Amino acid sequence: MATQEEVFKKIIAHCKEYGFVFPSSEIYDGLSAVYDYGQNGVELKNNIKQYWWNAMTRLHSNIVGIDAAIFMHPTTWKASGHVDAFNDPLIDNKDSKKRYRADVLIEEQLAKIDDKINKEVEKARKRFGDSFDEAMFRQTNERVMEHIQKREALHERFAKAMNDNDLAELRQIIVDEKIVCPISGTCNWTDVRQFNLMFTTEMGSTAEGTMKVYLRPETAQGIFVNFLNVQKTGRMKIPFGIAQIGKAFRNEIVARQFVFRMKEFEQMEMQFFVQPGEELKWFEYWKQFRLKWHKALGLGDEKYRFHDHDKLAHYANAATDIEFLMPFGFKEVEGIHSRTDFDLSQHAKYSNKKIEYFDAEKGESYTPYVIETSIGVDRMFLSIVCSSYKEEALADGESRVVLSLPAVLAPIKACIMPLVRKDGLPEKAQEVLNMLKYDFKVAYDEKDSIGKRYRRQDAIGTPLCITIDHDTLQDNCVTIRNRDTMQQERVPIAEVYAKVAKEASFSEIYKKIAD
Ligand code: GAP
Repeated sequence: MATQEEVFKKIIAHCKEYGFVFPSSEIYDGLSAVYDYGQNGVELKNNIKQYWWNAMTRLHSNIVGIDAAIFMHPTTWKASGHVDAFNDPLIDNKDSKKRYRADVLIEEQLAKIDDKINKEVEKARKRFGDSFDEAMFRQTNERVMEHIQKREALHERFAKAMNDNDLAELRQIIVDEKIVCPISGTCNWTDVRQFNLMFTTEMGSTAEGTMKVYLRPETAQGIFVNFLNVQKTGRMKIPFGIAQIGKAFRNEIVARQFVFRMKEFEQMEMQFFVQPGEELKWFEYWKQFRLKWHKALGLGDEKYRFHDHDKLAHYANAATDIEFLMPFGFKEVEGIHSRTDFDLSQHAKYSNKKIEYFDAEKGESYTPYVIETSIGVDRMFLSIVCSSYKEEALADGESRVVLSLPAVLAPIKACIMPLVRKDGLPEKAQEVLNMLKYDFKVAYDEKDSIGKRYRRQDAIGTPLCITIDHDTLQDNCVTIRNRDTMQQERVPIAEVYAKVAKEASFSEIYKKIAD
């Protein structure tokens, strides 16, 4: 059995081999934590974005979209707190000259202790069989109790250092725990320093006249600064939301796990403006709606969980993550935050503008509170690919790799294949293709045996393969082969459009999640 790590490596290789994701500027040996989406990757990504955009803006008549610029006035980032506080604590190893996030080094140490505990538990489970009582074992086994105590003490010390922003203490924990650099193997560490994650560049043409500007680290601020524009021009009444999809940039130092943590990535964010006092009701609504959105894709309900935050940012009064079971454990894919009136008030203060909503019914003005839903397109992409990748043994002794993607998200909905490249079959296949291509992304393939062509489409997750054979010329029927069941059925050409439409259509899924 392959380990999860091996499976993940295979998925990354598969993404490259089948045109989903390439390392950026690969001919120059790539750029760390930057990736390009290939011909199939971009289709899958666009379908994810379409699913999110329509679920937010069509299923909610009170949500509208915008597309704000990546560059924003630099004061935006002062007001939002990013200039002062969007930092990671970094530490360098003096021997290897490699840089690490101090908090991540300690988190990995905590994970190592968890592994030790879990190994003990698994060993005991094997030994005791059905009579094994895990809770009792954890409470009574000396070695496990020792590990648990050590973990709790370390966790407490770590949490306090992070809360107090105590960089010297973070370094001391690393030293006390004898955490070594994986490259040099030494404990020869520098001090811990705060490192701002925002990329900067300059705007303007003369040396004196340039202005330092940032590449936005989140799309949300483009929504906040446009609150009044949208509210007034759209005559929006609270509660209402503004949705946006766009690129964000963070100078991530610990950039690993493929497209999970990148320096340039894409976010789908929605800010929902509500009356103060109603925010927790709406927080609950958005938690449930967003989870429904995820689960409706059918990747497996057990793969999702909420992770409520114990420690809240000073401006938030509730926050949760939707986590997805990746090959490397449950990981955050989406955040849902109740951000009070922090952002709008900050922008009002820094811009000296009144940013309020006038409630005509109540005859009063107030600064709305905000519920934010924020999901990374790339993490969503990764969760879908990871849970769809399957290696299957077939009845005939062969095997296949199949991406059982939700059909609505599949890059290509159907591949049209003439059985042979002669006898008028390619021309007939072209007719079928022409019938479909205006409404669906379809492909045409006439090379190699039908078996090989099926495998190629399985590997990119195409739900339907449509074969045109000699009988088609007589009976006007084609063979449609289903990706998941591999069952084939004979279907009149007149019914093909409806079959493909059924696979490609988002309507059913929208109906499932609509309130
Ligand atoms: N406006 C709130 C905000 O940006 P966040 O938790 O920092 O919150 C939201 O980011 C989502 O953006 C995350 O849940 C994740 O899906 C995605 N994300 C954040 N940093 C990322 C990175 N470096 N690479 C890929 N996706 C990232």
